[in-house]
Amino acid sequence: MNTIDVVLGLQYGDEGKGKITNQMARTGDYDYVLRYNGGSNAGHTIYVNGQKVVTHLVPCGVFHNLPSVIGSGCVVHVGKLLSELEYLEGLGFDTNLVKVAYNAHIVTDEHIEEDSKDTTIGTTRTGNGPCYRDKVMRVGKRAEDVQELKNRLIDASSYGDNNKILAEGAQGYWLDIDNGDYPYVTSSSCGIGAVINNGFSHKEINEVTGVAKAYSTYVGAKSYGRDPLNLNDNTEKFEAIREIGQEFGATTGRPRQIDWFDVDEVVISCLRNGVDKLIINKLDVLKQIQGAWNVYDSDVSFMKLIKFTTEEEFKNHIVNQISLAIPKIKIEFQDSPL
Ligand code: IMP
Ligand code: MG
Repeated sequence: MNTIDVVLGLQYGDEGKGKITNQMARTGDYDYVLRYNGGSNAGHTIYVNGQKVVTHLVPCGVFHNLPSVIGSGCVVHVGKLLSELEYLEGLGFDTNLVKVAYNAHIVTDEHIEEDSKDTTIGTTRTGNGPCYRDKVMRVGKRAEDVQELKNRLIDASSYGDNNKILAEGAQGYWLDIDNGDYPYVTSSSCGIGAVINNGFSHKEINEVTGVAKAYSTYVGAKSYGRDPLNLNDNTEKFEAIREIGQEFGATTGRPRQIDWFDVDEVVISCLRNGVDKLIINKLDVLKQIQGAWNVYDSDVSFMKLIKFTTEEEFKNHIVNQISLAIPKIKIEFQDSPL
């Protein structure tokens, strides 16, 4: 039996999962790191020894000399994987550690071309949706069918017994194909179930770390925000958050839409994914902006918005409300990655 610790996103992706997974991977507690969903649509920004590294497919185990497995829940464009490996080799990392589940699906150039015509969802145009469609249609190509991947193939579920596995998710729970705001979602499962679908038992899951940001961001075609008429006139504050927090897509460079932290939303994702430990990132961004200690919470009637004047009140409210819903949860606030 393995022991799996999971890192998953509780909002719309870009919560800082990469940083947290990297912090956990470097403890030396794990035998390997597994990416369990998504493809090149994801962008993980990680600082390794002060150097900024952006990966899309490769799990962060390579930064710590750990086998890094792209699981069966993922989709892989071979050319993009090879160039990412080359980039990582150039930075001095041992990419022989990177393995691909034999049953992960392959993104083709045709998938990317098709995805590039999207105008309704605002996809990352990485061929993600068409690839998962072909998987479900049972006409897809898998990693085992690709010569260039032959020496990297593994069966993730029988990679060895009694392993300590760090499982890192891509995207976030509210982009999940089933539970997100369909059709403005990604084409994979982003929640806890996705981990098991890589060939594990739910009994192997040990600790679940959920990652959120101190505010919300979303990138895609829908108009996002809980105050669509902008009655609270947040334009300037949101622009400041975008600049200070560098809220631009790691894959596409698109500006992310910003809104305040939504307590209800994060409580639901914690409950549904069995989160044991909640990390709320990028608190330092709000510290730099006047009047930004705001949250949405349905405990308050008018548009759910609550404005606090201090960081302490903001943090206390979040901790109290989330602990009320999930008594045993551990909550930690962190600043931006470095
Ligand atoms: P797709 O996954 O490329 O099909 O895009 C579907 C939706 O998910 C779009 O709104 C994307 O912007 C969003 N999305 C996909 N991957 C990420 C991610 O890693 N971070 C944030 N949003 C993402
Ligand atoms: Mg990202």
